[in-house]
Amino acid sequence: MTKDKVLIFDTTLRDGEQSPGATMTHAEKLEIAELLDEMGVDIIEAGFPIASEGDFRAVSEIAERAKNSVICGLARANFKDIDRCWEAVKHARQPRIHTFIGTSPLHRAIPNLNQDEMAERIHDTVTHARNLCDNVQWSPMDATRTEEDYLRRVVEIAIKAGATTINIPDTVGYTAPVESADLIRMLIDKVPGADEVIFATHCHNDLGMATANSLAAVDGGARQIECTINGLGERAGNTALEEVVMALKVRGDIMPYQTGIDTTKIINISRRVATVSGFAVQFNKAIVGKNAFAHESGIHQDGMLKNSETFEIMRPADVGLAGTSLPLGKHSGRAALRAKLAELGFDLADNQLNDVFVRFKDLADRKKEVFDDDLMALVYQNESGD
Ligand code: KIV
Ligand code: ZN
Repeated sequence: MTKDKVLIFDTTLRDGEQSPGATMTHAEKLEIAELLDEMGVDIIEAGFPIASEGDFRAVSEIAERAKNSVICGLARANFKDIDRCWEAVKHARQPRIHTFIGTSPLHRAIPNLNQDEMAERIHDTVTHARNLCDNVQWSPMDATRTEEDYLRRVVEIAIKAGATTINIPDTVGYTAPVESADLIRMLIDKVPGADEVIFATHCHNDLGMATANSLAAVDGGARQIECTINGLGERAGNTALEEVVMALKVRGDIMPYQTGIDTTKIINISRRVATVSGFAVQFNKAIVGKNAFAHESGIHQDGMLKNSETFEIMRPADVGLAGTSLPLGKHSGRAALRAKLAELGFDLADNQLNDVFVRFKDLADRKKEVFDDDLMALVYQNESGD
């Protein structure tokens, strides 16, 4: 079966960095961009060049260094932003300008533009961007709360003005999967010229549905997913890159799409982004959390020791982890204790194992996790009869 390609657009360095407190240094941004480029991200949104001198420098340097990825900068819907963005990205092998404006009634009220005035602004700014760069992305911010007929109208204007990618943001994480798919499907069906551009989905996680909404949008016809490493982003964050990429890999049977991501690089970049942003990854975070491939209960550990598919749907190596971990705690059983002791070089007879197991359970009741040193102490105590 040939699989349609879904482009991965990473915005860790732009939308991710907009999380309060996640600011990265220039060197950190270059490092993350290099890792994104190496792992096969199709488009890197490197920053918002007009936002600050630092952002401009970071986008420019990332543009100069990138080997494979398209390098994109963000610009509001005015010529000054767009010119500054172009200045920053123009040295990239493959530059892109991403320009946006809020199209929902709430967002139209901010610049105080009526529908016609905004439509004209969209036409003029997308035309201007396209005169500078032949790769232009346009986004109607808060698309999911924009009137359907107006959304159709402005998407058509942006396409006619030369946009090559139309991104449909769920800016406030308001949509639900069925709606997300229907919205993209409707735009592709009804907007003249829609078949000449790529539709993208950009979801936020306010209701915890960003990954589901992004995948539903792909089902509706989107062929670019916008996301960030670890789901970093404003408020509850953006769609997590590792989640959508692994979902497409693991469930290719029902979602026949491929990405160009080398998934074995996921853990390393996740850890680097957590470190440089200062946003620790929650233990039970899908794919990259400390517990995503860890099993403590006796039944699970016993199953894992016999066949890893009993409780794992992906191999740790697929995301770049050395292996599954079977931490020992009060829920663990004899099988995992025996395996752990063997790993530490102890080959105990059954009666010795039973004695250590009793002491181990006693300790585990008092401690969250029993570590290798604790276990060795238990074995030595047992041998000395203490
Ligand atoms: O969430 C959003 O709407 C955005 C746009 C700038 C694309 O990040
Ligand atoms: Zn966003």
